[in-house]
Amino acid sequence: MKIIETLSEMQAHSRADGKGCVLVPTMGALHRGHLELIRVARERAGSGGEVAVSIFVNPLQFEPGADLEKYPRPRQQDEEACRAAGVTVLFRPTANEMYFADRSVFVEETKLSNGLCGASRPGHFRGVCTVVTKLFNLLQPDAAVFGEKDYQQLAIVRRLVRDLNFAIEIIAVPTVRDADGLALSSRNQYLSTSERTEATVLFRTLQRSKEHVQHGETSPEKLVSLARQMTAETKGARVEYISIVDGATLEPVKQVRANAVMLLAVFIGKTRLIDNLRLA
Ligand code: PAF
Repeated sequence: MKIIETLSEMQAHSRADGKGCVLVPTMGALHRGHLELIRVARERAGSGGEVAVSIFVNPLQFEPGADLEKYPRPRQQDEEACRAAGVTVLFRPTANEMYFADRSVFVEETKLSNGLCGASRPGHFRGVCTVVTKLFNLLQPDAAVFGEKDYQQLAIVRRLVRDLNFAIEIIAVPTVRDADGLALSSRNQYLSTSERTEATVLFRTLQRSKEHVQHGETSPEKLVSLARQMTAETKGARVEYISIVDGATLEPVKQVRANAVMLLAVFIGKTRLIDNLRLA
C-alpha cells in the first residue's frame, strides 16, 4: 500500500498511473461501515485495480465550536485497517497541506443543502462539497463510494457530480448496523454505556415508522408526530429533526409513497447521531 501525504505527490501519482481508481473518501476512525465501503470499492475496481482511501478530518465541514479537535484520529490503526482491507493508495494530507491559509474559492450546493442537517450546520455541506471536489481533482477517480447513512451528503455529492460534469460514478452503499440496529458511526465512540443503549432509539423509531406505513399510514405529519413521541420516551434523547422527504429531491412529501425516506438527527447526551430509512 502506497501512503501519500502531499498534494504534489498525489497529483503526480494520479497522472503517472493514468488508469483511474475507485475512491473511498473518509475522515478516518475507520469502522466496519468504512470497511464495507472499501470492500465495495475493491469489487468495483476488479483484480489489480487501484482502490484509494482518503483520510482527512476536514476542518471546513465543522462549525466553530464543534468537535473538530476531539474528532478521533487513530492514525496507526487506520493505516493497518487499510492495509488489511487491500487498499492500494492511502492519501492522508494535513489540513495545512490541503488548504491555503488565504483560500477564497469554495464549492457550494444551494438547494439540497438547505434543510435537514444543513439547517443546523451552516457551512457544513459547503465544506463537504469543497473537499470532495478537491479529492476528485487530486485523485481523478473513475468511481467514488459513499455510505447511505449520510443520506443528504450522498444526494448532494450526486448533484455536485451532475452539475460540475465530473465523469465519476457515485456508488451508494447501504448503512452497516450493529446487531441492535445502531448505525455505525465514528461518533458512536463518544457514547457512554447507558447512552449507547439509548442510541438504539434512532433505528427503533425508523423501524416503527416503517411498520406504521406498512399498516396503511401515509400522513407524514402523523408519522413524524408518532416518531417524536417514541423518541421522547428515551430519557437522554433530544430530537433535532425528524423529516420525511422525497429520496431524490429531499423535498418534504405530502403523502408517503414509494420514494419516501425518513431522516432524523437526534442528540444522545452531547452526541449528535443521524440515521434514515426508506419507508415504503
Ligand atoms: O462522510 C465523510 O466522512 C465526509 O463528509 C467526507 C465525505 C469524507 C468529506 O470530508
